[in-house]
Amino acid sequence: MAQPPGNKGVMTSAPWWQSGVVYQIYPRSFQDSNGDGIGDLPGISQRIDYLADLGIDAIWLSPVYPSPMADFGYDVANYVDIDAVFGTLADLDALVKTAHQRGLKVIMDLVPNHTSDQHPWFLESRASRDNPKRDWYVWRDPKPDGSVPTNWLSEFGGPSWTLDPITGQYYYHAYLAAQPDLNWRNREVVAAMDDVLRFWFDRGVDGFRLDTIHHLIEDADFRDNPPNPDFKPGDPPTKALQRLYTNDRPETQTVLARFRQIADEYDDRALIGEAYIPLEALMAYYGHAGSGLHLPFNFQLLSTPWTPQDIAELIQRYEALLPPGAWPNWVLGNHDRQRLISRIGETQAPLAAMLLLSLRGTPTIYYGEEIGMSDVPIPPELVQDPWEKQVPGHGLGRDPARTPMAWSPERKSGFTHGIPWLPLGDDALARNVATQKADPQSLWSLYRDLLHLRRTEPALAVGDCVAIQAERSVLRYERHHAGRRFSVILNFGDEVTDVSAPGGDMIYSTASRNGRRTVTDRVRLLAHEGVLVAHAR
Ligand code: GLC
Ligand code: CA
Repeated sequence: MAQPPGNKGVMTSAPWWQSGVVYQIYPRSFQDSNGDGIGDLPGISQRIDYLADLGIDAIWLSPVYPSPMADFGYDVANYVDIDAVFGTLADLDALVKTAHQRGLKVIMDLVPNHTSDQHPWFLESRASRDNPKRDWYVWRDPKPDGSVPTNWLSEFGGPSWTLDPITGQYYYHAYLAAQPDLNWRNREVVAAMDDVLRFWFDRGVDGFRLDTIHHLIEDADFRDNPPNPDFKPGDPPTKALQRLYTNDRPETQTVLARFRQIADEYDDRALIGEAYIPLEALMAYYGHAGSGLHLPFNFQLLSTPWTPQDIAELIQRYEALLPPGAWPNWVLGNHDRQRLISRIGETQAPLAAMLLLSLRGTPTIYYGEEIGMSDVPIPPELVQDPWEKQVPGHGLGRDPARTPMAWSPERKSGFTHGIPWLPLGDDALARNVATQKADPQSLWSLYRDLLHLRRTEPALAVGDCVAIQAERSVLRYERHHAGRRFSVILNFGDEVTDVSAPGGDMIYSTASRNGRRTVTDRVRLLAHEGVLVAHAR
């Protein structure tokens, strides 16, 4: 495969979405270029060199389309333009060009499940019962007593049906009332979204992250969801029901197969999908013989207890479930979840980085993870997230994980000249990119080292993952590829531990970084140390 100029990709014949590393950018919070306190596309373009030097291969941008921002861009009012707050279409083209020059792919976020209630399609649809776009959304008559058509609940709290007084019917929304669900049984909707995919592929976009695809289609018979026997008092109210008839319906695969068909009209494009469902069910999202997504997100590390035993079991289970030819992937954080450090603690961050960047499968890094940004407490008067506003008090707010990137040790951290839309962390003066780049022992330097190691040692990127074991505080596995063989050995515990290991060369340690040592038959691991050992054969 021809390598793009700029970054040298991993030297293998694997496609970029297998050998590469994805970096998620939450555009509002990455880099502001015009002083309005909100990150934008020209800001991201300014930081492309940073990303290329770090050593990632693709950026995924959370939505940048025109939007009333009821859910910060996940409420799209026009699928084929850019919101003024982020810039213009020309800015997007410039970003794609700059990224490609540096060898980086660009993945956009597509939100096919729902639009904004301000999208012209919905404005038409709600205008009258006989509007040609009426059936583009999910409309239902009230029950005879005027109540909601089913007991289905919104992910963001309350019923997922809103009565439209003009036409006397309810419309369905898996999320906010301002996010009406499209009707994916309607062929015109399918055709309209075909055009959206082609519009961006034609502009050179390399792929899509597909938002909340487990919600695409609801039960044709509108059956009530059964109660959830595991529901506990204090759980978020949305957990009260099993989402049997609203989530992960079998017809979803037909829609995804169509997306794949469009992607396959182009060279080298990739589809990543967000579906919060059990691993067993997730496997269907790969489709049959490449008819589905390239990478259905594997979110398991976001909730698996942080122990060597639980993680070893997870890796084994996931590897065993993958259908033939399916490529794995791993995620430690995103814009919807608590930040990694806040979940597992600061001491575990280097181990987590080595785990993510040495497992078999495409890793996705959430912006700021590479400097160990943690959740920033948001005072009630500054809360932005609609979920937190609708269901306060359950810790569901996502603002803490979406705060501005800390670039440099100055006021406002080099993110903006204006007032940042969310506050910066208290620690930003000490914990920022510039400070960590200057320190070879920093977390940033660890990410950079490991990302560059993956490029020189394809086994770490595309090799088989075997001999996965947990023993007391240690998790270990091997990566094999083209005659190269590596052990990854991770000590989760806070005590020094000796483990046996086949002989070889320790090529990296999270503790001593450049301390190359020869390993004969044992390795002494410091507390929270992870090492990479290259074996002769
Ligand atoms: C996805 C997004 C989340 C958004 C929701 C509704 O889960 O990641 O941020 O609120 O979909 O679009
Ligand atoms: Ca801006």
